[in-house]
Amino acid sequence: MKIVSIVGTRPNLVKEYAVHRQLQRWGIEEVLVHTGQHYDYEMSDLFFEELSLPRPHYINTLVKGSHAQETATIMVFVEDVLLAEQPDATLVYGDVNSTLAAAVASAKLRVPVAHVEAGIRSQAHYNPEEVNRRVADVLAEVLFPATQSAYDHLIAEGYDPKVTHLVGDTILDALQQAMREHHIAVTQGDYLVATVHRAENADDPARLANIVEALCRAPQPVRFPVHPRTGKSLRQFGLWDRLERQSHVELLPSLGFLSFLRLLAGCDRVVTDSGGVRREGYMLGKPVVTLIDLIWFPELIASGWNQVADPGSAEGILEVLRSHRPQGERPPVFGDGRAAERIARILAERYQ
Ligand code: UD1
Repeated sequence: MKIVSIVGTRPNLVKEYAVHRQLQRWGIEEVLVHTGQHYDYEMSDLFFEELSLPRPHYINTLVKGSHAQETATIMVFVEDVLLAEQPDATLVYGDVNSTLAAAVASAKLRVPVAHVEAGIRSQAHYNPEEVNRRVADVLAEVLFPATQSAYDHLIAEGYDPKVTHLVGDTILDALQQAMREHHIAVTQGDYLVATVHRAENADDPARLANIVEALCRAPQPVRFPVHPRTGKSLRQFGLWDRLERQSHVELLPSLGFLSFLRLLAGCDRVVTDSGGVRREGYMLGKPVVTLIDLIWFPELIASGWNQVADPGSAEGILEVLRSHRPQGERPPVFGDGRAAERIARILAERYQ
């Protein structure tokens, strides 16, 4: 049995780190396909090196452009791969443009699509990730929601429970695997880890300025690994120098998974607009402030460990940063660290 796995961005590579080993264990032949969506060394190659991922069988190199250009280029690329490989199914991860493009190309060729991390929903209909996720879900033959709320959304939307499998989150698998194999332990530091990359923040001068203002006035040291997109915007909007002048703010390049995990594991709190980082923070027992009003994991908000701060106001962000000190339980929202194993078993049983 042969699966084509589609990766293209940082978060895809983290999930692939957990899944590819289980595919191997279940005797599934995996053809790894890199769409080229992320192409900088620190956004892609570094992840392959650190996580000892197999070299992709196919790599696309011509992607940069608008969403439509990016998606179209990847669709054409993936179509060629699928025609050459004739797999039993295509495995797509999450909600990035590569996910959407590969799901469409695959479904048009009648190659079944399996969607890891299906079912997450927000009310932001035109958020780029929401668009990608909904389309991938509709086209998928097998759906692997990571959380109970994602599973519930799918069932409420009429998806068939027979092909909708609540497996848990492959990010938890990856995190546990990396901590075990690289001896990373959780410690209590005094610093705040900040990450910002969402289009809604990175491309909006006013919101980005408010985030910068809040970080400059943050009540503790800040370590800020900067995504290339955000780096470009900070410079373009004249905000980079201000951050760089702050003695309590350390600007870092975007980090590989292991270095980032070490940073997170030793921090006091996390402030982020990332879907992945908010989960990793929670998994590691760190209070998380989310800089975007997209509640992809209502369970985290309900637990009290994740609070939203609106980047519409610097003062608003600071207020949340000062007051967010959760104490309660952290329910196992993301499963038990065996999501990848379940995914491989279900694929093997279905397509063998
Ligand atoms: C993408 C995903 C987002 C995910 C994030 C993780 C979509 C719509 N968005 O956002 O869901 O959370 O990846 O990082 O798929 N760029 C570089 N170097 C790179 C990659 C991108 O400079 O290696 C630049 C691009 O040229 C572009 C901008 O960053 O100007 C946006 O890149 P893109 O991949 O579209 O989106 P991300 O912001 O990375």
